[in-house]
Amino acid sequence: MNSKSPWTKKDLLSLYDLTAEEITFILDTAAEFKKVNCRRIKKVPALRGKTVVNVFIEPSTRTRISFELAEQRLSADIINMSADTSSLRKGESLLDTIRNIQALQADLIVMRHSAAGAPNFLASRVKCGIVNAGDGAHSHPTQALLDMFTIREKLGRIKGLNVSIIGDILHSRVARSNMWGLLKLGANVTFAGPSTLVPREFQQAGVRVCDNLKDALIGADVVNLLRIQHERQRSGFFPSTGEYARVFGLNHDSLQYIKPDALIMHPGPINRDVELSSELADGPQSVILEQVTNGLAVRMAVLFLVAGCLK
Ligand code: CP
Repeated sequence: MNSKSPWTKKDLLSLYDLTAEEITFILDTAAEFKKVNCRRIKKVPALRGKTVVNVFIEPSTRTRISFELAEQRLSADIINMSADTSSLRKGESLLDTIRNIQALQADLIVMRHSAAGAPNFLASRVKCGIVNAGDGAHSHPTQALLDMFTIREKLGRIKGLNVSIIGDILHSRVARSNMWGLLKLGANVTFAGPSTLVPREFQQAGVRVCDNLKDALIGADVVNLLRIQHERQRSGFFPSTGEYARVFGLNHDSLQYIKPDALIMHPGPINRDVELSSELADGPQSVILEQVTNGLAVRMAVLFLVAGCLK
């Protein structure tokens, strides 16, 4: 590690824990790794000799594949563990499972879990580094970092931008992580959606809360749409998917309110024509697939930095 590096943590658990300087350092490091990903040979030896275990106890496409590819690009040894084929199914506790993985001399564990706080619980009990790949409705730090990386790359800054995050805020770890990161870097953050899905308590953190789509869109530099999370919802947050799409879905009519060069973002997976019309998802203002591309560089940066702080 560079002796001037502000990064000193063996874990990445949440952006709530990080300073603006640490977040900016991750984004700057990711920019260097993005250059590696543009080379003919897209591989560096930074994690040679390190073992990374990917523990995904909840479904994932983008995060799981991009972490695995990031580990390959950094030359790590990689093990993928799925809950269905592990002894978790026989009742072994999560902590015992991770202690056994550590006994096999794993260095880093990348974990997605449906329980909020699972990575934090483990990080204080094991020596290996823990990288949170999404825990319940709590935190998804690498998603927010790749969102911020994309905003900074496309618009040149984050400070002072108006970022509106629209949809199911209540169940969204992406919204919470973006809120913590964006506020620390000086953006103006708005949450909007049905009042049943946008808790007013977020105002205390410095977020503007709207239950009207138009108000949230006027003057927006960035609109980040969230997926309606059918799997996390008890029934009754809104009358029907069709009504949600009519009242809160982003479509061609919405473009009149946002800035002409505003970015349209979505963490994926998209419910097409519910929270976002297919026309806009695939249109010129959409950066959704660039977010995915940038996720690779961001995850390379995170793995590189935490690996450098292992004892
Ligand atoms: N954005 C995101 O976390 O997608 P996956 O659930 O497919 O990883």
